[in-house]
Amino acid sequence: MDHFLYRDGALFAEDVPISEIAAAVGTPFYVYSTATLLRHFQLFDDALEGTDHLVCYAMKAASNQAILKTLAQAGAGMDVVSGGEYLRAKAAGVPGDKIVFSGVGKTADEIRTALTGGIRQFNVESEPEMEVINAVALELGVVAPITVRVNPDVDAKTHAKIATGKSENKFGIPIARASEVYAHAATLSGLEVIGIDVHIGSQLTELEPFELAYTKVAELTEQLRAEGHKIRRLDLGGGLGIPYTRANDAPPLPVEYGALIKKTLGHLGCEIEIEPGRLIAGNAGLMVSKVIYVKSGEDRDFLILDGAMNDLIRPAMYEAHHDIVAVQEPEAGVEQQPYDIVGPVCETGDTFAKQRNMPPLVAGDLVAFRSAGAYGAVMASEYNTRPLIPEVLVHGDQFAVIRERPSFDEIINRDTIPTWL
Ligand code: LLP
Repeated sequence: MDHFLYRDGALFAEDVPISEIAAAVGTPFYVYSTATLLRHFQLFDDALEGTDHLVCYAMKAASNQAILKTLAQAGAGMDVVSGGEYLRAKAAGVPGDKIVFSGVGKTADEIRTALTGGIRQFNVESEPEMEVINAVALELGVVAPITVRVNPDVDAKTHAKIATGKSENKFGIPIARASEVYAHAATLSGLEVIGIDVHIGSQLTELEPFELAYTKVAELTEQLRAEGHKIRRLDLGGGLGIPYTRANDAPPLPVEYGALIKKTLGHLGCEIEIEPGRLIAGNAGLMVSKVIYVKSGEDRDFLILDGAMNDLIRPAMYEAHHDIVAVQEPEAGVEQQPYDIVGPVCETGDTFAKQRNMPPLVAGDLVAFRSAGAYGAVMASEYNTRPLIPEVLVHGDQFAVIRERPSFDEIINRDTIPTWL
């Protein structure tokens, strides 16, 4: 069910007109639907019904505390990849025993923060990192629960920048070396080895790469158990893709993904953890922007928006497609025309779409980028001294600003001038 629909010609987020939010907070802004966030979390939770499991939302996708709290109240755990994300999850009220710490380069300080505040497990990415977790745990007089992230050398068949499961990628330890690494981990008294972790990439649109990876994890579980390790938890990462266009074939559903997990790993009796990010938040958010100018070029028309690559980097960074719709629904029969849709930043890469068919638009019209809830606001920057845009959460007929737009003074006063100037 889509919670961003037209009603009487106007785009709504749940029961709130987008134009009403725009009038209240100004443009551009991100807006999220509570109902969509919860529905997507529930799809995963239901897909794993019958197995001992925890859905740990990969908060890197959209990390506003209001989003975290919404999901945590529904029972979600969190997957964090930095000390900052850990503290943010805690600030949103997530208990440490529901927080999983992933990420390739956890520092001793970050590890200390998590061990002090409580952690479900660390997903260890390398042997040197394992040594540091052990050392910090011993220093604090605690035992750190860990899994080891294995790299199964599987092609996730996704964009190269977000594929993580091939042997040439920086992630995890080669699965062929797992036996040796687990044997070493077992000798470190600051660690308790509880399971295996794997994550092969993001925006996967087929189940086959998951099946290959999870089959390898099943074999490894049996091998490690035979070698005397108590493997009781499997963290299977995230990565299930979302439809970015309404026209394309939809990727597999969480229920099909859940069935695959049960088929490949169900016989092992392990607790299952998954770390979905994009599928929970992606289609739960829009970026709304205003047309500043319509400019006629030599052979094309440009829609120049007040939103730019610093607000939504995905098209510039991954050639990502986002559907862009007019907030005022075009009347039936209106002929569309092609536009290059761009932001005001001084880079040619600040292009959201080329020759995209849109209804005729004029300065002042609002447009909405669909599927912008994941890896949107979190990847924004203040490039060109453009303030980070506000985030708004809708819940039924209510909406609330969950992050304010900073003032220019706040931005400028963050700089400090050395005494010699
Ligand atoms: N777990 C780990 C260890 C991850 O590295 C990631 C994503 C996830 C879970 C969540 O994956 P998801 O379910 O969201 O696919 N900025 C890129 C995506 C980067 C994904 C990084 N890791 C984009 O905008 O497409």
